[in-house]
Amino acid sequence: MSDIETLQTELMAAIDSADTLEAIEAVRVSALGKQGSVSALLKTMGGMSPEERQTQGPIINGLRESITSALATKKAELETAELNRRLSTERIDMTLPAPDIPRGTIHPVSQVMDELAEIFADMGFAVAEGPEIEDDWHNFTALNIPETHPARAMHDTFYFPDDMARDGQKMVLRTHTSPVQIRTMTSQEPPIRIIAPGRVYRSDSDATHTPMFHQIEGLVIDKGIHLGHLKWTLETFLKAYFEREDVVLRLRPSYFPFTEPSVEVDVGYSVINGKRVIGGSEGWMEVLGSGMVHRKVIEACGLDPDVWQGFAFGTGVDRLAMLKYGMDDLRAFFDGDNRWLQHYGFNALDVPTLSGGVGA
Ligand code: PHE
Repeated sequence: MSDIETLQTELMAAIDSADTLEAIEAVRVSALGKQGSVSALLKTMGGMSPEERQTQGPIINGLRESITSALATKKAELETAELNRRLSTERIDMTLPAPDIPRGTIHPVSQVMDELAEIFADMGFAVAEGPEIEDDWHNFTALNIPETHPARAMHDTFYFPDDMARDGQKMVLRTHTSPVQIRTMTSQEPPIRIIAPGRVYRSDSDATHTPMFHQIEGLVIDKGIHLGHLKWTLETFLKAYFEREDVVLRLRPSYFPFTEPSVEVDVGYSVINGKRVIGGSEGWMEVLGSGMVHRKVIEACGLDPDVWQGFAFGTGVDRLAMLKYGMDDLRAFFDGDNRWLQHYGFNALDVPTLSGGVGA
């Protein structure tokens, strides 16, 4: 047998015994690859005399063709075998009942935050954020609450140990979202229209207080802003949120160090079947704190209070959720009890929109 016939017999045997796609690929590389045995033979033709080439050429080319076609046939066979194996082992039994897919829900706090963002976006407010670990200056001092101020006692503050001070500032878990007012005014040119939802912390715990809860802050800074703008904004917001036209507000004079004048806002309710329902004015529920931003706060942020005025408000997101959706124990919000979540949670695909209704 000539060398070429021997090579052909060997390669055919190798192709024949290759039983995986990887094995057949290895045979292909060993024969037809750059360093392959058949490729080497093809290269020898360049150095042959014309006569030699006439006899050897067809033999070598014939070898290449038969090996190429044997490889292709074997590869197709192996692929079919692999497909058949998968078809026979991977089965979906269409007659089985659908499994019970665990379905998550959107937490009412997330839902209400989305509703509020939607309502305020429609009024031209952007969403701002600030850190939950805040320094004393942003949480208190810049908001006109100096260290000796009795208003510090209004907040049951979680202080970090002294050795965790940063730039000489004692660190706290923010007690309200109002420091985001400061962070926005010091980083952004007025006019400003923002809301700032987020977690806040106070050392307090009973049926209506948890050490962590959620607030949403609102801030408007512009020229010529007055209490009428504040009242209109809150009225528009509360009507959209409770999805009722008969929402009645009552503004009461109050005190916050960072607003002057300060107003506490009550919303009227009616009693229907022994339950309080928002709307009407049979009774009043306090829903938010607000006021005109204090001159000292505007100054602390490097702005001229004779040019820029504004209003701010802050309210509890959890409390707003309770009033709209009827939960009566705040602590259950943070228990992670699946029964509560299934009952009060929202469908992830029901995104609140003003046109479709911000409610459920
Ligand atoms: N930060 C106040 C609080 O937590 C609420 C508030 C915000 C009041 C803005 C007035 C203006 O009670």
